[in-house]
Amino acid sequence: MSSKETKISEKELQNLRKQYTKSSLSANSVNKDPFKQFEKWFGEVMKSGFYEPNAMTLATASKNGIPSARVVLLKGFDDSGFVFFSNYKSRKGKDIEQNPFGCLLLYWDKLERQVRIEGKIEKISKEESEAYFNTRPYKSRLGAWASNQSSVIEDRSVIVKEFLKYMVKFRNHVPLPPDWGGYRLIPGSFEFWQGRPNRLHDRIRFSKQKKSWKIERLAP
Ligand SMILES: Cc1cc2nc3c(=O)[nH]c(=O)nc-3n(C[C@H](O)[C@H](O)[C@H](O)COP(=O)(O)O)c2cc1C
Repeated sequence: MSSKETKISEKELQNLRKQYTKSSLSANSVNKDPFKQFEKWFGEVMKSGFYEPNAMTLATASKNGIPSARVVLLKGFDDSGFVFFSNYKSRKGKDIEQNPFGCLLLYWDKLERQVRIEGKIEKISKEESEAYFNTRPYKSRLGAWASNQSSVIEDRSVIVKEFLKYMVKFRNHVPLPPDWGGYRLIPGSFEFWQGRPNRLHDRIRFSKQKKSWKIERLAP
């Protein structure tokens, strides 16, 4: 196929638009506990046949305020926060070390829903990281050793060689790498977005107060 055939015109892009009609959300209908509301929506997501229902965008910023974002997988959530795993020396790891605030964004197109969660990020305990690491398949555990995530490498053979090196070193038990583990984002606010017709979407924000959550509707 020539590049001419694959080129997408500006008009085609501009004509990509949907009417959102699936559901609605209000300060009355929403659960007064944002963790429970998230659980409800996530339960519906799990039943809706998404390819990677737990994929979420994590935004961080450097100490100078330079933002960056990437997809990570949600691996646990409860009233204490939202857990994901990564390399502590990666770009995100360095950001979090210098500026421990982040934002998680989940978008489920089929349900016309978006959730934004902002808060402080902390490392989880080594024991918790270890417990999760040990559930990963053998080769994924080796992969964590083989990759100095976000460092520049000459070519792919660098990580393949490292992978094979660790395969020989750790034939059975693969220990937790020193720079690998979990983070927990502790929410200070949640925003639940439900698409509605004519761009008059529903947005409900929860902001953490001392002992409760303030619930407000935002203009779409
Ligand atoms: C679907 C999907 C899931 C991913 N899950 C993770 C994850 O759970 N942890 C992680 O560190 N990187 C994950 N990645 C890779 C990150 O998006 C990113 O490339 C990597 O973490 C390096 O980011 P950084 O250089 O900003 O630190 C995932 C990527 C995709 C597309």
